[in-house]
Amino acid sequence: MSTIDSVLKETRLFPPSDDFRRRALVPSLDAYHALCEQADDHYLSFWGDLAREQISWKKPFSRVLDDSNAPFFKWFDDGLLNVSYNCLDRHLAQHGNKLAIIFEADDGAVTRVTYAELHRRVCQFANGLKAQGIKRGDRVVVYMPMSIEAVVAMQACARIGAIHSVVFGGFSAKSVQERIQDAGAVAVITANEGLRGGKSVPLKAVIDEALGLGGCESIQRVVVFQRTNGGASDWQEGRDIWWHKLTEGQPEQCEPEWMNAEDPLFILYTSGSTGKPKGIQHSTAGYLLGAINSFRMVFDYKPNDVFWCTADVGWITGHSYVCYGPLGNAATQVIFEGVPTYPDAHRFWQMIEKHKVTIFYTAPTAIRSLIKLGADFPNQHDLSSLRLLGTVGEPINPEAWIWYHEVVGKGRCPIVDTWWQTETGSVMIAPLPGAVATKPGSCTLPLPGVIADIVDESGAPVEPGKGGMLVIKKPFPSLVRTIWGDPERFKKTYFPEEFNGKYYLAGDSANRDEHGYFWIMGRIDDVLNVSGHRLGTMEIESALVANPLVAEAAVVGKPHEIKGEAVVAFVVLKGQRPTGEDAKKIADQLKSWVAHEIGKIAQPDDIRFGDNLPKTRSGKIMRRLLRAIARGEEITQDTSTLENPAILTQLQEGIR
Ligand code: WT7
Repeated sequence: MSTIDSVLKETRLFPPSDDFRRRALVPSLDAYHALCEQADDHYLSFWGDLAREQISWKKPFSRVLDDSNAPFFKWFDDGLLNVSYNCLDRHLAQHGNKLAIIFEADDGAVTRVTYAELHRRVCQFANGLKAQGIKRGDRVVVYMPMSIEAVVAMQACARIGAIHSVVFGGFSAKSVQERIQDAGAVAVITANEGLRGGKSVPLKAVIDEALGLGGCESIQRVVVFQRTNGGASDWQEGRDIWWHKLTEGQPEQCEPEWMNAEDPLFILYTSGSTGKPKGIQHSTAGYLLGAINSFRMVFDYKPNDVFWCTADVGWITGHSYVCYGPLGNAATQVIFEGVPTYPDAHRFWQMIEKHKVTIFYTAPTAIRSLIKLGADFPNQHDLSSLRLLGTVGEPINPEAWIWYHEVVGKGRCPIVDTWWQTETGSVMIAPLPGAVATKPGSCTLPLPGVIADIVDESGAPVEPGKGGMLVIKKPFPSLVRTIWGDPERFKKTYFPEEFNGKYYLAGDSANRDEHGYFWIMGRIDDVLNVSGHRLGTMEIESALVANPLVAEAAVVGKPHEIKGEAVVAFVVLKGQRPTGEDAKKIADQLKSWVAHEIGKIAQPDDIRFGDNLPKTRSGKIMRRLLRAIARGEEITQDTSTLENPAILTQLQEGIR
């Protein structure tokens, strides 16, 4: 059986401090193991008890799991509930005056709303939507800037039982059109413009263009939040309505629509590696339980925390850890409209200081770009409010982890490296910070009730230290229910025949070390095959990032007559991009560095330098494009979803 070779050796271990441990929800490894055992031995009552404790039900469920039609699992099926009720109404008696959201706009203006105020706004907007004829089961596209209103829009949909499909505000008209069409949406909620980094982002104009492309005849209303004074030239009477007109005179109470546990809460499109985007469909109760429970456990949530997740609501992270997890727990959170480098690179640290953020959750790509700007910026701010840090979205290279730990966390704050996916809805593998000692680059151990494993093509577990495919062996509440409109693709993609349709296939490669810790090695599709050794991308990239000159790196394979594949590395240095003789010298230096760090086998044949790497709007490196460049092939893929399309030309020109 073919496994994947693990070549990275990382031995540093960071246990939580006694102080952290003492106050933690799960304060020891033994306590963590006890929870896992309880979940393993009594799987259904473990999840059933959590669902009863953490969710307020209108009508309780009588059965935890119905697996008679696997892999179309049903959880808590005959229960009735409303997600918005769980995020707002049930907190009002005790926490009505507690801050729900501290919103900081691009220009620094701060708006604060309490739970009572947020509840009022959601009810009024929900009533407004109903008055426009939007009802239970309708699909509503949300195309909004980061704002209190984005959360209000999502919560209002949940309140009336409409299914939201949030589309990230950076996506093109074509992407929006495809998503509207696939979902058969009846309405779009947008803003005239957004503001990011001092620049206006046309939102309404993109919607107008999308609707003009055809195929969007299902759309009856476009609701427009007025964020600025511009950007609403192409107004269509009868179709378009201002947010403030829609809510005008609407009652401040709105009876929630009582939903079945399995009714879809939302669809979120995720781009598959090929073909059209998949509408990941999440359920009402199972998803909510995943968001609420994981937020408590992974962030060791305390009522006086100030939580800040920097993800946009256009991604699953913004759904689970901006919109639903924090509100479901009555937490106080920061929401930020802008970008980390505007007006300058002080912004994140200034905000942490100003709002006394206690938990900070961001992506490795953001951390790497902040490292590139230097430690001077964070060092000029009082970051002592922080008690916990988190990362999500990609493997974090150990060197970036260490920087985050030392420079941002001052060595005091545990880092929760959280592995999960749009499809899993909530965090699956991450250290419970009071219980599990961390290792830089490892997402450590699964949450209690998550049965994760690493297997080969036959489904047999691989031995420690060997890489294989990451699977989850039992259904869990927050798992994707289906691909909107395409149940066959759902089955084929996530519960493939090779594992008898029994395991959820995540699509990532991973290995486990002698302590059972999980190390994500990259996407299975990106695995390289060099002289018969199968190598994940993560480890070679991390070796490169460990070199003091390097800020970011991405590796891909290109065909090689003898080795099968040769390693090609695309590298961004911390300083200037080198050219000519300089580039050659540094490339040679880095090649020997990799050979020395992890072995000759992983040494790149070719190293190219860029000012940046091609990334998706959510910050993931597009290795598919790099593969085409490394092979000198023409780029045929759609590059409109790239954060920085211009970088492709630069990298292509670098080819001699
Ligand atoms: C893919 C899922 C999860 C919300 C944001 C991304 C990669 C995610 C980690 C991590 C290593 C990670 C995986 C995964 N990934 N978190 N902590 N360590 N890799 O959601 O866009 O659905 O992407 O992101 O490859 O499969 P997504």
